[in-house]
Amino acid sequence: MNPGTPAGDGSILYYDADYPSLELGPARAEDVAALARVGMLGDVAFYLEAAAGLDRVLEVGCGTGRLAIPLARQGAELLGVDVSGPMLDRLRARLAAEPPEVVRRVRLIEGDAADLDLSAPDPAYPDLAGWRADLVLLPFNLLMLAPDAGHQRRVLAAAARHLRPGGRLVLDVMNPLALPLEAERRPSPSQPRVNPETGNRYVRHAQAAAMDETQVQRLSGWYDELLPDGGIRSTSFAFAWRMVYREELERMLAETGFAVEAVSGGFDGTPWTERSSRIIVRANTIV
Ligand SMILES: C[S@@+](CC[C@H](N)C(=O)[O-])C[C@H]1O[C@@H](n2cnc3c(N)ncnc32)[C@H](O)[C@@H]1O
Repeated sequence: MNPGTPAGDGSILYYDADYPSLELGPARAEDVAALARVGMLGDVAFYLEAAAGLDRVLEVGCGTGRLAIPLARQGAELLGVDVSGPMLDRLRARLAAEPPEVVRRVRLIEGDAADLDLSAPDPAYPDLAGWRADLVLLPFNLLMLAPDAGHQRRVLAAAARHLRPGGRLVLDVMNPLALPLEAERRPSPSQPRVNPETGNRYVRHAQAAAMDETQVQRLSGWYDELLPDGGIRSTSFAFAWRMVYREELERMLAETGFAVEAVSGGFDGTPWTERSSRIIVRANTIV
């Protein structure tokens, strides 16, 4: 979902069902299969390893806590920023079930990360004035959800100004070279899944438009959830993502004060090639 996606959009309501957490949930075989289908198996373990032993972590686009809560469990002081109030509400509900020492490690700010500036005292977070992280994470396509290249640069610049000197940035986005970027002729249904909140089965019907000349691709469709009385509840969704090619990403990082340390194509450390499904970058602040 993008900055501005309404609370009732299916991409928010079904987020935890579409992207189940193996760390926070029961880790069922069908959840493992669902994550494998979208190429997201192993991202949480990857980011936990990146944060191991570090005190302060900033997660940009922390969503419902799929990664933020495991990071706090591991011992990090975790600052999560998210533009979506409904996503943060879900994170807070999940966090409430955690032990007090985990709850205490998590701070949340609602807002667009591009505008985040804790360098000056903010009356809403007086104790966070001057706060800087050892590690900033932009996980799970966060950068692609900014509407244009300028916005993407502003998100990276915000990451840079909230890192201590010598701090590290880790991010992952999809690799556009490995994606079909033309328009799909019709919506295609997903495998049936279970909505953990209701226990009902649902199917997601999605259709991608062609990537446009600004590298933005729009996706839209609807979720059909089968109700116990035999009825179907349909909920629409729509979002857009801006594709970032590896060269452009490395240029943006250099322009915003980062030196790229490593680029891989999978969460297991596979070297990046044009066919990799993801672009996973570790970068350091230039001191
Ligand atoms: C794909 S979800 C990922 C959530 C979480 N990091 C995870 O891995 O499950 C992306 C999240 O980023 C948030 N987001 C998108 N653009 C943002 C921005 N510019 N600033 C802050 N949050 C943003 C969305 O509201 C959403 O919660």
